[in-house]
Amino acid sequence: MELENKVSLVTGAGQGIGEGIAKVLASHGSKVMIVDLNGSSAERVANEINTLFPKCASFYEADLTDSKAIQSMIETTLTTYAKLDCICNNAAASKGLGPVENYSLEEVQATLDLTFTSLWKCLQIEIKTLKEQSVSSSIVNISSNSAIRGYAFNSIYAASKAAVNNLTQSVAKEVARNGIRVNAISPGTINTPGVRQYFEAEPKAKDMLEKSSLLRRIGEPEEIGELVSFLLSDRSSFITGQVISVDGGSSIN
Ligand SMILES: NC(=O)c1ccc[n+]([C@@H]2O[C@H](COP(=O)([O-])OP(=O)(O)OC[C@H]3O[C@@H](n4cnc5c(N)ncnc54)[C@H](O)[C@@H]3O)[C@@H](O)[C@H]2O)c1
Repeated sequence: MELENKVSLVTGAGQGIGEGIAKVLASHGSKVMIVDLNGSSAERVANEINTLFPKCASFYEADLTDSKAIQSMIETTLTTYAKLDCICNNAAASKGLGPVENYSLEEVQATLDLTFTSLWKCLQIEIKTLKEQSVSSSIVNISSNSAIRGYAFNSIYAASKAAVNNLTQSVAKEVARNGIRVNAISPGTINTPGVRQYFEAEPKAKDMLEKSSLLRRIGEPEEIGELVSFLLSDRSSFITGQVISVDGGSSIN
C-alpha cells in the first residue's frame, strides 16, 4: 500500500472533499488525523474509518484561523502517532458572494483569513515540525480551478486561492533541500454538501457545470483523494511545486 507506515493529517476533514481525502488515505494504509472546526463531524469521519480500518484514525477539533489551535493540532498528532509524514491543508471557504463592488471589508477579510492566512499559519508550524523531524515528507494544499480561471461573483475566494498556488510554489522552493515536497491540487466542481445545496437552489447550474467538464459530470471527493494520496506518497518523489487540476478537463474546455 502506498501510504503504509505513514502518518497523515487532513484539515477540514469533517465533510466534503476533506472527508473523501481522509478515507482514501486510510484505504492506502496511512494513519490519519482528522481535523475540523466541527468536532462531531470529525469524530464521525474517524469512527467510519476505524470501522473499516481499525485504529487507523483519530480526530481533533480546531479552528485553523487560530495559531494556538494549529500548534496543538500538530502536538496532538505527534503525541498520538509519534511522527507526522504527510499533510493535506484542505479547510477553506468563501465568506461572501456577489459583485466585487458589493463586498464588505469584513467579507474580504474573513475569506482571506480562512482560505489564505490560515493555510499560511498551518504551513509555518507544519514546516517547522517537518524540518525538526528531518525525514522526507510531503504537503498538499487544496486550491481551486477558480485560481486559474477567475470566478465571477466569488472573486475574493478565487484571488485567495491564487495566493495559495503562489505560496505553494515559493514554499516548495524554500524547503526542497530539507526533503519536504509541497504541491497543490485544483479541484473542479466536486460533489460536496455545499455543491449539492447549490444545485438544489439552482438546478440549471448543475447542467451547466456538468457540461463544462470534458467528462460531462462533476467529480467525487475520493477522486481528489486519490491524487492527494499519490502526491503524499513516495511514489511521487520527483514532483514538487506543482499545481495540478483534477476537474474532468473543465479547465481546458
Ligand atoms: N466543493 C468544490 O466543488 C470545490 C471546488 C474547488 C475547490 N474546493 C476546495 O476544496 C476544499 C474543501 O471544500 P469542500 O467543498 O469540501 O468544503 P466543505 O465546506 O464541504 O468542508 C470544509 C470543512 O472545513 C471545515 N472548516 C471550516 N472552517 C474551518 C476552520 N476555521 N477550522 C477548521 N476547519 C474548518 C468545515 O467545518 C468543513 O467540515 C476547500 O479548500 C475548497 O476551497 C472545493
